[in-house]
Amino acid sequence: MNQISTSNDILSKDNLCSPPSYNFKQMLDDLREDIDRYVFMGNDEKSWLFMLLAHQGLWALVEYRLHRWVDLRVNLPIIRQILRLFCFLWHKFIQIITGIDLPHKADIGKGLYINHFGGITLNPEVKIGEFCNLSPDITIGFGGRGDKQGCPTLGNRVFIGPGARIFGAITIGSDVAIGANAVVTKDLPEQAVAVGIPAKVINYKGAQDFVHYRKK
Ligand SMILES: CC(C)(COP(=O)(O)OP(=O)(O)OC[C@H]1O[C@@H](n2cnc3c(N)ncnc32)[C@H](O)[C@@H]1OP(=O)(O)O)[C@@H](O)C(=O)NCCC(=O)NCCS
Repeated sequence: MNQISTSNDILSKDNLCSPPSYNFKQMLDDLREDIDRYVFMGNDEKSWLFMLLAHQGLWALVEYRLHRWVDLRVNLPIIRQILRLFCFLWHKFIQIITGIDLPHKADIGKGLYINHFGGITLNPEVKIGEFCNLSPDITIGFGGRGDKQGCPTLGNRVFIGPGARIFGAITIGSDVAIGANAVVTKDLPEQAVAVGIPAKVINYKGAQDFVHYRKK
């Protein structure tokens, strides 16, 4: 097996994150893409309303998007305090009933797909690109030492298998697949498939076979 490459020049140059000027329309557009991803994953057999009511991953995403918008854009003093309190309580409720913790400070691109219940923990400094897949029991968080201390940045269309742990100020390239129970503490280049503890690249077949979304 090859060691993980840490060369930054082969990492994703895609636009990973939502812009700081996160206005209401952008928030709704992201949410529409989130819901559409679930409809697409259900082979377009069920309505968006059914998906919204039936999938706990979407409950967490709705709370995350609205909470983020309130935090970044609502500036009227009293309204802001009231909405922030409401969002704080809503976040706790979602965390308890879904086991999914998407902090509003984390930067998550549109079309995220969380297919099962629970165990998803993200640090608020994490960045995740568009159309990624999160399986259950995943930690993406703070770690590392020196200039590698911090939180991961994930590219677009990244697949993360169940039980994976990803930490440190590392960059995961676009179309990367991380296998079940892998522990990733080093950069991964685009298209890498990494498994094990510590995670090692086993091939460069990418995540296309696992990450499906409506191409527009
Ligand atoms: C990591 C993964 C994407 C690799 O897929 P792939 O590129 O097709 O690679 P393969 O499945 O052919 O496996 C290649 C090798 O890695 C090993 N391997 C695969 N996944 C592994 C894992 N999570 N941990 C350790 N080794 C693993 C295989 O046993 C195989 O070893 P071998 O060459 O000695 O026989 C795939 O194994 C995987 O985890 N898919 C996701 C499935 C999943 O998580 N489903 C539940 C979602 S909730």
